Amino acid sequence: MEAHIHEWLNLLVRWIHFIVGIAWIGASFYFNWLENNLDRKPPQDTGIAGNLWAIHGGGFYHLKKFSTGPDKLPSPLHWFKWEAYTTWLSGVSLLVIVYYFNARAYLVDPSVFDLAPWLAIIVSLASLFVSWIVYDLLCRSALRDKPETLTALIFSWFVLLAWLLSHLLSGRAAYIHVGAAIGTIMVANVFFVIIPAQKEMVRALLEKRPVDPSPSKNGLLRSRHNNYLTLPVLFTMISTHFPSTYGHPWNWAVLVLLALIGVAVRHYFNVRHLSKAMHWILPAAFAGMVGVMWLTSPQLQLRIASSPDNEQPVISDQQLMTIVNQRCAACHAANPSQPGFASAPNGLELDTLEKVQTNLEKVYQTTVVTKIMPLGNLTGMLDQERQQVMAWYLAR
Ligand code: HEC
Repeated sequence: MEAHIHEWLNLLVRWIHFIVGIAWIGASFYFNWLENNLDRKPPQDTGIAGNLWAIHGGGFYHLKKFSTGPDKLPSPLHWFKWEAYTTWLSGVSLLVIVYYFNARAYLVDPSVFDLAPWLAIIVSLASLFVSWIVYDLLCRSALRDKPETLTALIFSWFVLLAWLLSHLLSGRAAYIHVGAAIGTIMVANVFFVIIPAQKEMVRALLEKRPVDPSPSKNGLLRSRHNNYLTLPVLFTMISTHFPSTYGHPWNWAVLVLLALIGVAVRHYFNVRHLSKAMHWILPAAFAGMVGVMWLTSPQLQLRIASSPDNEQPVISDQQLMTIVNQRCAACHAANPSQPGFASAPNGLELDTLEKVQTNLEKVYQTTVVTKIMPLGNLTGMLDQERQQVMAWYLAR
């Protein structure tokens, strides 16, 4: 029953996280698109910087952007901030529900680093807070007038973080935490910098004085960072579906490459309306994806992990099932005996030879290539057994 309630809590919070995340990133994409597509050609109405016509869902819309602001504060004025805050709050709740409630299974992988679960939770929390502090200090330093150096240093922090976490936590937890750290920075940017800058604009309007340009300038820098961070953060959020990335022996480097591709694609969409000079980015990004696909191929992963050549004698079907029953079926059965599991994970049952054979490729991939199973190696699978599974697989 407890496991069932846990599963539904996960479902509910995940659903909410997904919905508010779409609302946040969707609004952010939309305003970015507006900014890039405004018709700024003169003549414009007085005080208007640009305007745009659109048709959507059964109506024509005419939007105007003011050069500074309207004469008096309109009411209601829509702010777009709760989408960001609720995305963070639900995201942190999910971190607790999925990763902290079952830290030994999800956060820790003893073959990476045998961390006590409570220490892993501290690493998790620290990764979020330290990332924000490092990023914020960098943005407040003199470097803020050198955007290229600033960008390079921020990126280097994430490379370092990805490397560190991939040596401390399980692969999937490392990926989620790099994403959660980026997400934390993005939301903190909204909360601590962008919204205060907008409040200054409103105050200036009410007091009929010119806007202090400094908060807006900072707000713009942070919004720009948020814009470039969206595609990498979205990948990390779906990454748990892709064990060939987070289960790779060089998983941190795979993540860095995918993040670079995401940033490049975002850049293309930011500048494509300005010139055609950047059209090479999309094919280059595609080639990059093919490159990462090659890097994560099973053969290459096995070679990089320098798994010893298979020296195990071929085992019988019965011996295979002894291993699977001992190491997998505690979770992968209709009624798992492993505490905390209400039903077979991902609906995958491995309690008969037939079911194992139906899922042969998946079993081989997760136990021999990426070694992400058994989850957190909770059932203590031995390297020798992984090689025996390999021998059985190759001899089929
Ligand atoms: C402690 C529980 C546990 C044990 C033991 C375990 N698994 Fe899993 N397994 C999971 C969970 C949880 C998932 C779902 C992960 C996710 O969120 O994607 C999973 C997912 C999988 C998947 C991916 C299924 C899919 O459709 O994508 C495969 C394959 C798999 N496990 C194979 C194995 C094998 C083989 C073993 C034994 C060597 C094993 N597992 C042992 C918990 C376990």
